[in-house]
Amino acid sequence: MESEVSRNPWRVLEFYSGIGGLRYSLLKAAVNATVVEAFDINDVANDVYQHNFGHRPFQGNIQTLNAADLDSYNADAWLLSPPCQPYTRQGLQKGSSDARASSFLKILELVPQLLQPPSYLFVENVVGFETSDTHAILVDILEKNNFVTQEFILSPLQFGLPYSRPRYYCLDLNGATEAGSSMGWERQKCKPGTQSLPLFCGPFGKKGMQEFLKAKLNLRDELLSLYVSLKHFLVAVFAMQ
Ligand SMILES: C[S@@+](CC[C@H](N)C(=O)[O-])C[C@H]1O[C@@H](n2cnc3c(N)ncnc32)[C@H](O)[C@@H]1O
Repeated sequence: MESEVSRNPWRVLEFYSGIGGLRYSLLKAAVNATVVEAFDINDVANDVYQHNFGHRPFQGNIQTLNAADLDSYNADAWLLSPPCQPYTRQGLQKGSSDARASSFLKILELVPQLLQPPSYLFVENVVGFETSDTHAILVDILEKNNFVTQEFILSPLQFGLPYSRPRYYCLDLNGATEAGSSMGWERQKCKPGTQSLPLFCGPFGKKGMQEFLKAKLNLRDELLSLYVSLKHFLVAVFAMQ
C-alpha cells in the first residue's frame, strides 16, 4: 500500500545547515522532499548555501527557536548536524557542558512540547558523540516521545570511497505520527557505547547496502533512500567542507 509519505514530498527542516551537505544529499538521492527552512548562525555559510540552493537560511541562533516556531513549519522530517566540537576525540569532550552543545539540547527539550512533531529525525555527528551525555539525553527524550532510534557509524570506505571518515548517524522514526507508524519499525532500544552500534564492514556497493539494510532492518523505500543517500551525503561533506 502506498503511504502518504511516498505521495507527498516530505516537508524538511535543516538545522545547522552550513553550506547544505544534507540538502545536497537529499537532492542527490532523489528523496521526495522539500526543504521548507534551513537554519544557521553563520552568514558566510549562509552565503554559500544561498549560492548552492537559491534559498537563504534563517540566520540566527537556533537556541532562540521555540516550540510554536517549529510547529509552524508542519515539518515531516528534521535534519540535524549540530556542532561536533563538544564530542570530538581531538577536543576536550566536555559534552553537554560545552556552550556549543546548548542549542541542540534546547531543540531536544522542545520535542515534548511540540503539537506537530516530525515523523523522522536524522542526526549526524562525530565518533565520540555516541558515548557523550548529550547522546544519552537525545535517546532518552526521543524514546519518551515515541521515537524509534537506529544508530550507525559509517565511513565513506564502506561505500567504496577511498577515504576513512567514520561518522555517527542516527535515524529516528516517530511511532506516534500516521506516517511514522505506517513505516512499521519495531522499537529498538539504543544502548550507549560504541560496541552497541552496528559498524558495517564494507565495502558495500549501492545494491549490496540496500539488500543488507532491507534484510536486517526491514526498511521501506523512503527511509532506505536516506541510507543510500549517505553515500552522496558523505561525498558532499568531505568535498564541500
Ligand atoms: C557541523 S556544522 C554543519 C555542517 C552542515 N551539515 C554542512 O553541510 O555544511 C555546524 C553548523 O552549525 C552552525 N551553528 C552552530 N551553532 C549554531 C547555533 N546556535 N544556531 C545556528 N547555527 C549554529 C555553524 O555555523 C555550522 O555551520
